[in-house]
Amino acid sequence: MLKWNPTGGLFYHWLAFKYSHRLWEHHKETISLWLNSWQPSSSHLVLVGPSGGYSLPNKFLKKFENISALEIDPLAPWFFQLNHKNLNTKFYNENFFVSSSKKFNINAIADIKNKFPGAAILFCNLLGQLPLLTKDFSCKQTEWTKKISEDLKGVDWASFHDIWSGKNIPHSNSIRKVPSDSSLNESIHFFFNNDKKTLKEFRPNRNPSIITDHGTADLFLKHTHRIQWLWKLDLTHSHCIEAVHYSQSHQLSPQDLKVFTL
Ligand SMILES: C[S@@+](CC[C@H](N)C(=O)[O-])C[C@H]1O[C@@H](n2cnc3c(N)ncnc32)[C@H](O)[C@@H]1O
Repeated sequence: MLKWNPTGGLFYHWLAFKYSHRLWEHHKETISLWLNSWQPSSSHLVLVGPSGGYSLPNKFLKKFENISALEIDPLAPWFFQLNHKNLNTKFYNENFFVSSSKKFNINAIADIKNKFPGAAILFCNLLGQLPLLTKDFSCKQTEWTKKISEDLKGVDWASFHDIWSGKNIPHSNSIRKVPSDSSLNESIHFFFNNDKKTLKEFRPNRNPSIITDHGTADLFLKHTHRIQWLWKLDLTHSHCIEAVHYSQSHQLSPQDLKVFTL
């Protein structure tokens, strides 16, 4: 059954159809370069929230023998197959993050690990969407932020996710290397740097309609190899995306991020 899905669904497929070749190029190229520097040791990859795989490079996915995908959007497997014809991906329409009684599952990561032991996990722009999935998330947010790094221990994982988003943001193709402990405000100031007027009007708490905080700025605060960029979703909306990955067998060095013109 097709249910209303605030983080994806038919509207998202329509946006991808309309803009993925016109506006999303910088976003897709950055993801592709970033994924090249991730070296998980498993041949099994779990994609969490891949939708139709619009942002995922086929060349990267082809490296894996098995791909499993967790998606609550029943249309996603069809579009994914269309975009990645050469891959045999097994889809699971299972919601690990929200229970049927709409409660946020704080143990989602542990449950995914148990279901796919030994697999590498790629969160595909989902973690910053969690506040949209359940009201119950907000009261668990602090606990979740503390728990996520703990629960990811022992796994090779990667995530790209929204940090903040807004309307009519001056576009920039800059890629920011994020210092550890960097705050939400520093991120906003970095990308607004060229537009003093917008920055002047921006008051994070007084005018929340300008910027939406996706509650993820503190999620991977201690990771030293994070990057951020702007994704122009459509003609008016932009999202600041952060990407971070970890692999047990390959410790990142600053050289790995040299491919980005930071
Ligand atoms: C913002 S979209 C990103 C889509 C795609 N990864 C991309 O980057 O183009 C978020 C996706 O997460 C999916 N999603 C939402 N909640 C989910 C859940 N609990 N488990 C798996 N997927 C979920 C949505 O259906 C949607 O396709």
